[in-house]
Amino acid sequence: MRKRVFSGIKPSGELTLGNYLGALRRWVAMQDAYENYFCIVDLHAITEPQDPQELRRRTRDLVALYLAAGLDTAKSVIFVQSHVAAHSELAWLLNCFTPMGWLERMTQYKDKVAKGSGERISAGLFDYPALMAADILLYQAHLVPVGDDQRQHVELTRDVAMRFNHRFGDTFVLPDVLIGEAGARIMSLTDPTQKMSKSDVDPNGTIALLDPPDLVRRKLMRAKTDSGTEATFDPARPGITNLLEIYQTLAGETAERVEAHFAGRGYGDVKREVADRVIAALEPLQEGHRRYVDDPAELDRQLQQGRDRAAAVAEPTLRDVQEKIGLR
Ligand code: TYM
Repeated sequence: MRKRVFSGIKPSGELTLGNYLGALRRWVAMQDAYENYFCIVDLHAITEPQDPQELRRRTRDLVALYLAAGLDTAKSVIFVQSHVAAHSELAWLLNCFTPMGWLERMTQYKDKVAKGSGERISAGLFDYPALMAADILLYQAHLVPVGDDQRQHVELTRDVAMRFNHRFGDTFVLPDVLIGEAGARIMSLTDPTQKMSKSDVDPNGTIALLDPPDLVRRKLMRAKTDSGTEATFDPARPGITNLLEIYQTLAGETAERVEAHFAGRGYGDVKREVADRVIAALEPLQEGHRRYVDDPAELDRQLQQGRDRAAAVAEPTLRDVQEKIGLR
């Protein structure tokens, strides 16, 4: 029997090169070996304010990007989280078995609290990991391929599953997090000490997957680097290291070979070649995206089918949980 994979992306902003290299591209590369469930997590997106029109557009955009990137519905179930009601239902149930203290320790939550004002932080944002645990556990997923920033949430999911199994008997598969060797933490181009993020207010810090080629080149040529000259991986020089890592991920090379490739050449050369690679990688994505967006009926058909296939797996898990805790 094939192992199950579950992962998702929030439609909360324009998808970035970080999302692509840390998650989507890896899903495509591994989909042949597993039984896959890839979700557009709109219920997670609304833990922060969203414009309804934009949310609707971005959700469909994301489906189109999943398909354009090479996810194949013959091998992967692609669906929207809110279309399968079991996600919300299990999230509530898991809420009741997740200690507040565990949620309070989540660094992503703590970062957001540190940046925002308490009054504006929703209970949903605090509770976000319980919904994420529901996503993963409903499908009895063995593996969860994500970028480095989601590691803690997957570990919490595992803890919640263990706690539940301990109390009610074997119910959930314990999932393992799967983080790429390279590309798991792509940094901002304007501040390479910060993660590249959909929510970055500075558009020059991120490369959006739908950015046109000239814009991609301009952003990369202006990427912040130090005054050094040697193109080597070095934590003390995060700017050039980030560019080399983007190159490494796209070229599928080892770090040593990337350093050898750029030996004796300046940062300008690195930027030019990284831009070439990124533009070449985005071209088929953008082309495919246009095709799917131009055919809304086909997109709806895919989503309907994805919803049915996902619900067929999620609902029996939910029923089992309801029985175990005495709700039916
Ligand atoms: P989200 O939408 O913030 O990010 C989607 C995926 O992209 C990865 N990622 C990055 N990887 C490398 N470098 C970066 N700069 C970078 N930024 C983001 C993320 O690690 C993630 O893999 N909570 C999740 C979505 C989610 C989920 C799930 C994931 C909901 N339920 C169940 C896995 C399983 C999130 O907000 O991802």
